[in-house]
Amino acid sequence: MDHDRRLFVCINQKSGVGEAVAKSLKKELKVQGLKKLLTGGERQRVRVQTCNCLDICKQCKKGPGAALIVYPEGTVYGNVRPADAAELVAEHLGRGHVVKRLRVD
Ligand code: FES
Repeated sequence: MDHDRRLFVCINQKSGVGEAVAKSLKKELKVQGLKKLLTGGERQRVRVQTCNCLDICKQCKKGPGAALIVYPEGTVYGNVRPADAAELVAEHLGRGHVVKRLRVD
């Protein structure tokens, strides 16, 4: 069974910010050594994948950043900019804390 963590990043903006966010997330996972996690005694890989729409377009096309969802927990983040990648990776994936200022309910 596949237990990998996945970050789906919407890239359906004219600005191309989603692509930049995905690139920054990948870079931060590498820099922070979090491409592989040990969670509950189980090894997980963290993958960043791009997609065309997460159906939360208000949090994606109308602001400065992109929408993304973290699976399997299903946490939704909106208007994420490349500069937010380091904090998201460190807090959400490293410490298991939701980044409240970017979270969309
Ligand atoms: S266009 Fe990004 S969530 Fe719909």
